[in-house]
Amino acid sequence: MTDPLAAVNAWIEANRDASLERWMAFLRFPSIGTDPAYAQETRACAEWVVAQLQEMGFTARTIDTPGQPMVVGHHPGPGGDDVPHLLYYGHYDVQPADPLALWTSPPFEPTLVQGPHGERVVARGAVDDKGQVTTFMEAFRAWIGATGSLPCKVTVFLEGEEESGSPSLDAFLEAHSEELRADVCIVSDTGMWDIDTPALTTRLRGLVYLQLDLEGPSRDLHSGMYGGAVLNPLNTLTRLCAALHHDQGQVAVPGFYDAVKPVDAKTREAWRKLDFDAHEWLSDIGLHHERGEPGFTTLERTWARPTLDINGIWGGYTGEGAKTVIASKASAKISCRLVADQDPHAIIDAIKAYVEELAPADAKLGWTVLGAEPAMAVPSDAPHTQAAARALRRVFGKEALLIGSGGSIPAVGMIKRRLGLDSVLMGFGLDDDCVHSPNEKFERRCLENGIKSHAALLAEIVRG
Ligand code: BES
Ligand code: MN
Ligand code: MN
Repeated sequence: MTDPLAAVNAWIEANRDASLERWMAFLRFPSIGTDPAYAQETRACAEWVVAQLQEMGFTARTIDTPGQPMVVGHHPGPGGDDVPHLLYYGHYDVQPADPLALWTSPPFEPTLVQGPHGERVVARGAVDDKGQVTTFMEAFRAWIGATGSLPCKVTVFLEGEEESGSPSLDAFLEAHSEELRADVCIVSDTGMWDIDTPALTTRLRGLVYLQLDLEGPSRDLHSGMYGGAVLNPLNTLTRLCAALHHDQGQVAVPGFYDAVKPVDAKTREAWRKLDFDAHEWLSDIGLHHERGEPGFTTLERTWARPTLDINGIWGGYTGEGAKTVIASKASAKISCRLVADQDPHAIIDAIKAYVEELAPADAKLGWTVLGAEPAMAVPSDAPHTQAAARALRRVFGKEALLIGSGGSIPAVGMIKRRLGLDSVLMGFGLDDDCVHSPNEKFERRCLENGIKSHAALLAEIVRG
């Protein structure tokens, strides 16, 4: 029998401009899920994806949630119940585009430009996650275009709130667990090692996100009349924030590291062999000195160690010129990346207890929990991960590296807990894609290798 993948790959080559056009059409929707001002465009984007799925023969629809609509589509595959059933998860929402002034072209007018690796598209969502979603959507199109069908059952499931921490997802999965049943979940929302070297991500960090509002005096005060004799909320908040770390960078919250296990010797050794150049990685972002918890490499710090970061801090006078004022309120956004076995709720409790203990009399603290997701590990020896490794080897002609990621994808944990499914994290992003930043881009080569990899993954999964 001839290998159907040869025909599928020929289809991909012959239709590369049409694939590019569809990706760019996807990018024109300003689907900023977190901003209510874009609710209409976000919904229109979900409906566009549904139309794409229907065009390919999927039964697809949007399903409303308290937040942004979900996209769900089903393809029966070749028929019969004994074929594998794959669930593809991704997100069609994107991060806000600001600061707009730093973009070289408008964020929602995708622009094809030349770079050192050939053509790339600059747009918000170019890689995260519309480009990556396009890699599997176009692989489906190629299989259907070249062979008339997909070789297995496929369910596509996209959300529009990933960048907001997936607030509607858990309840949705619980309510639709029957409809979303499958054998394994495939996710393309992570990175490669470099443009020539594919990777499978085996661990994601968890995330705890808190807002701390501190209130002192009942109104703003003249800093001459009151200064030096009253509690200053901004002085107090910055001292409390500073107390969250020791001088060397370790988190000072008692109990923060209690559940953290060391990286096992085998993994540690494998990571040391990865020949990661920390100085190159830093110089790409204008820095030149490694820093972080003593005793760990940069890769260990981002993949296997928990963190605490202040993400925003505000209060008082921040306008032009000087204003002598003691503001009555001050606030901070604080997030932690978590690793395996750390319980997000225990971490939240530990931070609150520590800060409350340190806070002086008259400082009234208010806490808002904006996210609490544990870390996630995916088994690297699972059969589907092995199938993905074979698919990547076929496309890239070299072995996929098993890597960690410092980022978080709440859906991966929820899908494991609610649907019982492990995920395969096969992504095609690069470190310099400017994810969440101005001038986000995705290389055309990454897109096309991604399409071929997903096409090959389908072939590898049916071969077993
Ligand atoms: N795709 C990213 C996560 C990611 C980034 C994985 C880099 C691997 C490498 C995802 O869209 C994201 O930004 N996640 C957020 C989650 C948060 C909003 C709950 C994150 O990690 O900050
Ligand atoms: Mn993403
Ligand atoms: Mn993101």
